[in-house]
Amino acid sequence: MASISAKPQLFKTLGSNPSRSAGARRPASIRCSTSQPPRPRRYRITLLPGDGIGPEVVSVAKDVLSIAGALEGIEFSYSELLMGGAAIDTVGVPLPEETLAKAKESDAVLLGAIGGYKWDGNAKPLKPETGLLQLRAGLGVFANLRPASVLPQLVDSSTLKKEVAEGVDLMVIRELTGGIYFGEPRGFGTNNKGEDIGFNTEIYSAFEIDRISRVAFEVARKRRCKLCSVDKANVLEASMLWRKRVNEISSEFPDVQLSHMYVDNAAMQLIRDPRQFDTIVTNNIFGDILSDEASMLTGSIGMLPSASVSGSGPGLFEPIHGSAPDIAGQDKANPLATVLSAAMLLRYGLGEENAARRIEDAVIETLNKGFRTGDIHSSGMVLVGCKRMGEEVLKSVDSQKPVSALG
Ligand code: IPM
Ligand code: MN
Repeated sequence: MASISAKPQLFKTLGSNPSRSAGARRPASIRCSTSQPPRPRRYRITLLPGDGIGPEVVSVAKDVLSIAGALEGIEFSYSELLMGGAAIDTVGVPLPEETLAKAKESDAVLLGAIGGYKWDGNAKPLKPETGLLQLRAGLGVFANLRPASVLPQLVDSSTLKKEVAEGVDLMVIRELTGGIYFGEPRGFGTNNKGEDIGFNTEIYSAFEIDRISRVAFEVARKRRCKLCSVDKANVLEASMLWRKRVNEISSEFPDVQLSHMYVDNAAMQLIRDPRQFDTIVTNNIFGDILSDEASMLTGSIGMLPSASVSGSGPGLFEPIHGSAPDIAGQDKANPLATVLSAAMLLRYGLGEENAARRIEDAVIETLNKGFRTGDIHSSGMVLVGCKRMGEEVLKSVDSQKPVSALG
């Protein structure tokens, strides 16, 4: 189908299935047709604003997505649904059935943030985080892409010395629907001394390792062709299988240079010499930890987007920061991580590379003009709130030319 071949090669098997979206087919002749304007591509987007600063940042990202899309002849329809603490308060569960059903029917899901002090003491089934894990499992989004780049404009925000942080550009690919997060058996019990115990299971099948490895090799191939697989194969059986399968899959990607690193060493190397990394692939729990560490290299967690994708069906796109309840509703949040997540939605979810670039270019231009929210502010820069930052990005997108084919 034309719309699939229009996707970047990397995700030819990933992202949403445009055939399910009426009007989403991109005519093969879009670039050369001069006689009649192409039909707009249409996508259905599920918005899950969630809690805390979530609604503020999603509202900005939605506007940016709409305008960048319009300039590329894309139309979006949006459904906003309940998720996280907001859903617990309204319907009593963190992921209502309706939310998952609608998300599955759509072409991509954009999530703000979930959680807050109010629900911290809730039992596990009633925690906002449980809803997020159910959403990931329900959508089957097994590959989580978390880029961390130190932008030259923000290099001074890093807690590392400038000479260490400068030029860092890496991508953590985290397995997202397996491992200890979901492994059985799990639970609480008592040991033979009668003491309380809590236990979980780190478990991976060859199939799960193979599919995340292939995504990682393909991503690495589009970057600097270097993949580092992180495990704990000196101790854990699940990691021993992980390493064996990653080695096996590497024969399909002879152009990608593969290395292996134990997770403790990787944690150290990330702050010692982060530029040695290009693409990192790792399991669910190590990826959770290392991606937080990697994000801090950039000094600005408020800037970092993420994409979670499956082999088919809609992807889930969200900033990696949390709901920041301390600044919620005060117009202080940095919306750029969510705006950049909308760019990832376009690139990895819909195969709309041009619209993705428009958003990324607009963010860079806005930073170049000196606009900064509190989290990335430094002297001499213009301190702005969430809304104003959004308006400035919109202005930058708006000043870009529409594609010539659409006049
Ligand atoms: C993340 C978060 C989640 C995780 C929590 C909120 C369940 O820390 O997305 O990294 O542990 O995966
Ligand atoms: Mn985390």
